[in-house]
Amino acid sequence: MKAIVNVDNNWGIGIGDKLLNHIPADMKFFKETTTGNVVVMGRATFMTFPGPKALPNRVNIVITRDESWSAPDVIVCHSIEELFEQLERYDSDTVYVIGGSSVYQQLLPYCDTAYVTKVDTGKTADKFFPNLDVESDWVVKSESEAMEHNGTEFKFVTYKKI
Ligand SMILES: NC(=O)c1ccc[n+]([C@@H]2O[C@H](COP(=O)([O-])OP(=O)(O)OC[C@H]3O[C@@H](n4cnc5c(N)ncnc54)[C@H](OP(=O)(O)O)[C@@H]3O)[C@@H](O)[C@H]2O)c1
Repeated sequence: MKAIVNVDNNWGIGIGDKLLNHIPADMKFFKETTTGNVVVMGRATFMTFPGPKALPNRVNIVITRDESWSAPDVIVCHSIEELFEQLERYDSDTVYVIGGSSVYQQLLPYCDTAYVTKVDTGKTADKFFPNLDVESDWVVKSESEAMEHNGTEFKFVTYKKI
């Protein structure tokens, strides 16, 4: 299982139900990486999608405790245990945890790779991803050169669990 996330300098990922930035190259990376694969998310993250509609060309799995909740083209799981039962159908290398904060926190222990887009801003976030730079079992495997969008620098960093 892998995580894919966009963080600021403080490992902030969102404020309220909003993302902290919209960088086209990052969205392209997210789309290219997850298309054809399985995406796992919390209900709050699903509700931020346009529509809200399932992401096309991906198996969408949404976690919620609400037994009555459903959405077209979405597999609904009501606990982490139910999620893992569902995930037995898929090669774990094809499963991407896409947020939000609560789901990253719960599933990061099961991830072996994290694709982190690091954005050089320090906005006031209220949702965070664990800081992998201080986690002793995570190391940087590769790092792109710095890129820029509208004056904001960002880079793609791949972390591996050791
Ligand atoms: N920067 C990024 O890459 C990125 C990516 C994704 C999201 N985000 C941001 O993250 C924020 C959303 O994160 P969040 O933590 O508030 O919400 P979230 O993790 O997306 O969803 C939380 C919801 O998921 C369900 N859930 C979580 N754990 C569960 C469990 N063990 N069993 C059953 N259901 C469970 C619950 O839904 P119910 O309430 O329906 O029971 C819970 O309220 C937003 O600001 C969003 O913009 C950022």
